[in-house]
Parts: sequence; C-alpha cells; structure tokens
Amino acid sequence: MWGGRFATGPDAIMEEINASIDFDQRLWRQDIRGSLAHAAMLAATGILTQADVDAISAGLKGIETEIEAGRFTFSRALEDIHMNVESNLKDRIGPAAGRLHTARSRNDQVATDMRLWVRDALDQLDEQVADLQLALAEKAESYAGAVMPGFTHLQSAQPVTFGHHLLAYVEMLARDRGRLRDARERMNECPLGAAALAGTSFPIDRHMTAKALGFARPTANSLDSVSDRDFVLETLSAASICAVHLSRLAEEIVLWATPQFGFVKLSDRFSTGSSIMPQKRNPDAAELVRGKAGRVFGALQGLLTMMKGLPLTYSKDMQEDKEGTFDAVQTLSLCLAATAGMVRDMQPDLKTMRKAAGLGYATATDLADWLVRVLKMPFRDAHHVTGRLVGIASGKGVGLEKLSLAEMQEVEPRISDEVFAVLGVERSVKSRTSYGGTAPANVRRQARRWLKQLAKG
Ligand code: ARG
Repeated sequence: MWGGRFATGPDAIMEEINASIDFDQRLWRQDIRGSLAHAAMLAATGILTQADVDAISAGLKGIETEIEAGRFTFSRALEDIHMNVESNLKDRIGPAAGRLHTARSRNDQVATDMRLWVRDALDQLDEQVADLQLALAEKAESYAGAVMPGFTHLQSAQPVTFGHHLLAYVEMLARDRGRLRDARERMNECPLGAAALAGTSFPIDRHMTAKALGFARPTANSLDSVSDRDFVLETLSAASICAVHLSRLAEEIVLWATPQFGFVKLSDRFSTGSSIMPQKRNPDAAELVRGKAGRVFGALQGLLTMMKGLPLTYSKDMQEDKEGTFDAVQTLSLCLAATAGMVRDMQPDLKTMRKAAGLGYATATDLADWLVRVLKMPFRDAHHVTGRLVGIASGKGVGLEKLSLAEMQEVEPRISDEVFAVLGVERSVKSRTSYGGTAPANVRRQARRWLKQLAKG
C-alpha cells in the first residue's frame, strides 16, 4: 500500500511485530460496515461517481459473504483487517477499489471499527448482566424468608435472609449496568472522516456517515478522534468492576458449597468431581469466575499503561488496545453466563443455613435492642449487659436462649421472660423492617420490584 516510497519489503520479524490481522480480523463486520457507509457518503457528496461506489459496495458485500462463509484467506503480509479487505476488493473490482480510501485513513478507520465493536460489546454485556440479575431476583423471591447468617469480618453478625443476600448482588449489577450504559452514551460519536489526524480537504459529510453507523454525532476534534481510546478504557473499567462483583459472589459460592458451611448445593451441571477423591464435588465454575477476574483487570491495566505516554495523535502502540479488550469482553461474557447458570441451579439447604444463623450469638443485637426498647436502657449500657450475658453463655458453651431467666436476672434484674421471644432468628429478621432491611416482607417487595423492572427490560 506504500510501495511508492519503499525499495524493499519488510523483514520477516518486522512483519511479525507489525501485523495485527491474527487478532483484528474479528473486526471484519465493523470494517465492512464502516467502508460501506464511507463509500455511500463519497457518492452522495459527489466525491466519487455512483458507478465506482456501486462497484465498491457490491465488492464489499461479496467480501462479507466470503468471510461469513469462512472462505476468505487473511494474509499477514497485508498487515491488518483494513488492508486485507481493501486488497481483496482490488482483486474483485480493479482500480476503483483504490478510490475507497479517499478522504480516509486507517487511523480514523480503526477508531471507527473499534467503536462499533465496543458498542456492540457493551450492549451484549448489558443484556447478560440483566439476565444474571433476573436469575438472582427470582431466587431471592423464592427465598425471601430463608434465614441465614449475615457476616461482618466473616464472623456471624446478625441473621439475614438468603433472598436479601442475593438482592445485594442485584443492586451491584444494577450499578454495573449504569456504568455500561454511561460508557455507551459517551462513546457514541463517530471518528470517521477525521482522516489521518487533521481532517480532509474533500467536501465529506461526517454527519451522514455518523448517522449511517448509528452514532449520535461525529466527533468534534480530528486529533482527538484518532488518538482517543477512552471508550475502551471506560468499557474495561466497567467490566473490571463487574468482574469484582462476580468474583465476590463466586467466592461466596465456593464457601457456601463447602461441607463446613453446607449452605448450598451446586448442580451437577456446574460442578466437577475429583479423579482421586470420589466424595468430592468441586465448584470449579465459581473458582474460575473468581480466577478470571484478574484477566479483565489486566486488560484495563495494560491499556492504561499503553496510553499514558502517547503524544497526540495516533501511534502504533495503540494497535495493542485490541487483544486485551477482546479477551476481557469474552471472559466477562463467559463469567456472566456461568454465574447465571450456577445461580439458577443452586439449591440452598434451608435447615443448615437456619441453624448456622443462630450460631455465634447472632441475636445478641436483638437482645440489646430489647433492653433499650423495653427497659429504656441507653444502648451503650444495653451493649454492656448483653456482652456479659454472651460471656456467661459462651462460658457454658450454650446459646443465649439456653440461659435461664434467673441467670439473666443476675446480670440485669429487670429482664423478664418476654426477652426469649427476641432471641429467635426468625423474630430477628422479621423485626428488621427499616427501609432496605432484611425483613422477609421487605425482601419480597424488593424482589418483586426488581422482577417487574427487569421484565420491562
Ligand atoms: N492495525 C492498526 C491498528 O490497529 C490500524 C491503524 C494503522 N495506522 C497506521 N498509521 N499505521 O492500530
């Protein structure tokens, strides 16, 4: 493509380090779509003849069909997707192919292709996150009242319900979707027509190509257009935060599925066995969701580092934006699908969870609250009295509810036997009716609100 200035071809190593076709061939749809829009604009503005553009468009569609059918041979010597397509176009239609690149450069071309790809990726991820929310909200509705221990510091803290716990993830994922949508909104501008960096002397219509490609408007500064990869960074940031959420849920599933916790049983479809220990059922999918998060963060870190020292405008370094991004999106997509599958199949063991909810003096706060409410004690005093009672119970190796009234009255004489009612885990969760609290009625309401919202799409 630049034979005019060069006497010899590239060294083999030069070709190897330079070529991106091995990974950017996945931009073929976007590349052809962008070229079709560019060509149509060149005809509409009279820059090219309609006859040339008809030939170009027919040729591009032929290439599309050939790639789709898997019959296209990509060549490393042709460096990247843009030149592979253009060279094939020349084989098909002859010299008119050479006119397609009028008022365009690979710099604005690749920026456009990448935006189109990332925009589709954002839409697909959003759909998958929504599906995971749905899986979680359905489970949450079914188990709105199933009592389990709530933890802080991974120590039993207060009883909560399983539905409440799952809805916490629905909220996190809602923020993820907000970030994906924000990124999409901000990135939806078309760099095509910025040409190499400075714009072009041809009377192009950038609004026309922007519209044809579904962008809200053309980008406003040609230098920024070809050197900006913020849209990839934002996508990877949103993807990374989402991967954090999936990884945390995965970690909980790993814990819950241990015989020691025994809170959930994973389905055969989402667990594996051991080749040596016949009793084992391993949560490999959850472990991999946890493990793969690092790849997504790595792609973000790699791109941040690659961009930070680049002067305006395009530098070839920017070709390195692709592999990490493709991998991160594919990885997150797989993790979302696996998590949705695990959640849908997961069977909670209600008895075990309920029993665990009462361990570790999880209703101590309920006892303290009772002392405040009924005996009008200041909370700090109630905390102290409750602490002493927990100490006595723990010394005897029993739960709070197993202390006798006499034992309790030794610490605080005004305690009556009404107190025993608040020591049960069910009473505890039922009483947490504050907005956003774990009371089953709240949880049911929230789960239904989500289900309704998700059905609306
Ligand atoms: N393959 C290149 C990339 O992905 C396309 C742009 C090349 N531009 C250039 N001036 N060499 O960044």
